[in-house]
Amino acid sequence: MDYSIETAPLKELQCDCIIVGVYQDSPVCSSASTLNDSTQGLISKIINRGDISGKNGETVLINSIPDSTIERILLVGLGEKATLSGKNYRKALFAAANALKKTPIKSVVCCLAECDVQGYDWQWKTRSCIEVFNDALYQFTQCKSDQTRESKLEKLSVIVPDHELASAQMGLAQGRAIAEGVAYTKRLADLPANICTPSYLAEQAVGLGNKYRKVDVTILEESDMQDLSMGSFLAVSRGSRQPAKLISLNYQGGEKNAKPIVLIGKGLTFDAGGISLKTAAGMDEMKYDMCGGAAVLGTLFAAAEMDLPLNIIGLIPASENMPDGDANKPGDILTSMSGKTIEILNTDAEGRLILCDTLTYAERFNPDVVIDLATLTGACLVALGRVPSGLLGNDDLLCNDLLAASETANDSVWRLPLWEEYQEQLKSNFADLANVGGKDAGTITAACFLSQFAENFRWAHLDIAGTAWRTGQAKGATGRPVPLLSQYLINRANG
Ligand code: BES
Ligand code: MN
Ligand code: ZN
Repeated sequence: MDYSIETAPLKELQCDCIIVGVYQDSPVCSSASTLNDSTQGLISKIINRGDISGKNGETVLINSIPDSTIERILLVGLGEKATLSGKNYRKALFAAANALKKTPIKSVVCCLAECDVQGYDWQWKTRSCIEVFNDALYQFTQCKSDQTRESKLEKLSVIVPDHELASAQMGLAQGRAIAEGVAYTKRLADLPANICTPSYLAEQAVGLGNKYRKVDVTILEESDMQDLSMGSFLAVSRGSRQPAKLISLNYQGGEKNAKPIVLIGKGLTFDAGGISLKTAAGMDEMKYDMCGGAAVLGTLFAAAEMDLPLNIIGLIPASENMPDGDANKPGDILTSMSGKTIEILNTDAEGRLILCDTLTYAERFNPDVVIDLATLTGACLVALGRVPSGLLGNDDLLCNDLLAASETANDSVWRLPLWEEYQEQLKSNFADLANVGGKDAGTITAACFLSQFAENFRWAHLDIAGTAWRTGQAKGATGRPVPLLSQYLINRANG
């Protein structure tokens, strides 16, 4: 898709369709009123006839306009004017994009950014147009024989007034970067596990390194992990025929000595559960167990596109978790890179086993903060459903920064407590700690486990088990939490 900004008056524009907003309780937006005047009151006629009430998400496509150079107009309901929130603004954009999907329309002009959205400026409103359209029009066709896409849309222009051009241009740049970062993440995540192996993820990272001068990529092989004594990580990959990789990306956008922000993403390319084998229903979705890793790549992609003046390290432990004659077994005890011993009570709690060694490894970068993202626990779905990602951490400032960023990015998170009382559940009779904490508070005890390897830096953990992909009819990756992390990085870059 080609995204741009337009400041010319509506009547001078060439496009297949103009998108304008209609409120539920107030006169239509100013562009709609301009178009109404130039079409002999066509829009008011349609509204008065009752074809659209202005409820949020309603759409009416006027696909023939007599005596006019305008080809089509898409009316979009925005809801009540005074309460147009960021969320509702984006909902209306989604509805607009979806309404255009199955039409022959190739180029659109969007006038919705002129609406007043509580608490948001032109930069944000412009950026949201691009993020939402790109998200709505995403389609995974790579593995279909017929790769024709459903949508014919090629071009979206956002209408902005002259005096807001600079702000909108910043929004355009951010929007493109984040939207592409999200799409990149979704494409990787939607790939099946027979294609997207740990080696494939590593190749993708190398590709990013080749694309961006400021990104350097190093791939640690199993022999390197052996040298580093990553006994926990290696125990997980033992049961797999695919060699594990520890992918390390270094984005140098900041001053040489500035402490880096470290992002760690779980890159489990298929989680069968290991010897503690999962049940068959829905097991295909465990190809998404690498979504944390894919989101680290997507976020670095966005950061590089925006040329953020920050130093960022991306670390992705990539492995499969399979049952095998050589796989680790319940009761096995291993020694992690930190020296702590771990009793494996359930081989399906493998995410924390590959993450803990990566957390220890992160220490060598002298991080400012470390944020890990992982499809870590089914319990997170029980606790929070598929709306927010779970947030836990050892630093209130960092957690609050992430909460603030999630608000702006429309990529919600909800903080859960990480009180020391929960650590009790990880006691083992035979090792320093057990890899599972029983059936209560599974998301919290998983984070407790990780916290024991994150004692030497400010750290936050995002459990994205419920948010990284959709299940059922709309099965597919969401690209979350790339918007949240990109916003966090933008905020950090702005001081
Ligand atoms: N990748 C899963 C978590 C998961 C399950 C994410 C379902 C999304 C949907 C993780 O490796 C896992 O299997 N966790 C176990 C932990 C348990 C054994 C303590 C779980 O959640 O069942
Ligand atoms: Mn598992
Ligand atoms: Zn897993």
